[in-house]
Amino acid sequence: MKKQIIQTGVAWLACLVAVSLFVGCPMSEKSPLGFRLPEGSIWKGKTAFVDLGCIQCHSVVDEDLMPELTTPRKVHVVLGGEVTRVKTYGQLVTSIINPSHIISARPKAEYTDKEGKSLMPDFSEAMTVRQMIDIAEFLQARYEVVIPEHAYSDYGYGP
Ligand code: HEC
Repeated sequence: MKKQIIQTGVAWLACLVAVSLFVGCPMSEKSPLGFRLPEGSIWKGKTAFVDLGCIQCHSVVDEDLMPELTTPRKVHVVLGGEVTRVKTYGQLVTSIINPSHIISARPKAEYTDKEGKSLMPDFSEAMTVRQMIDIAEFLQARYEVVIPEHAYSDYGYGP
């Protein structure tokens, strides 16, 4: 029951973020203005990253993620540092909970299926809101993303 409530919460949150990030105009009713997750724990985020199987496809810059994989990765995307295209906190959170949205801005054959959807699975059912917050905190420390403090007008996706 509790899990169901959390899952519904995640689904709503994912929906809210996805919808709000889709439109860049700050005055729109779908504006991302004011969106901000609560503080998370880097350490718990790292644990969740391993527990949820993100390491099957990702390594993270400057992180030694245990346990070591026993089978080689079919897909390998390095997260963090300068190899990334994630530029803002909003994009980082979106790429975790709504990967196909980000991919639509930069189609890359090796990362998409035949329909152009990201090879990254949908984690909105499997991940709790807390895990999402902690993973965002963990990855944010490895990305050089811009976190908006005050009002911001341009929150769209760059080319
Ligand atoms: C089956 C493989 C797979 C798994 C498992 C997976 N991902 Fe991904 N992920 C991808 C692929 C492929 C991309 C690149 C395409 C895209 O942006 O969707 C990606 C992209 C990302 C990006 C954006 C990368 C960038 O800098 O542009 C983030 C952040 C991310 N994943 C986080 C996660 C997290 C957190 C998990 C675990 C909850 C996870 N991924 C699990 C395949 C995977």
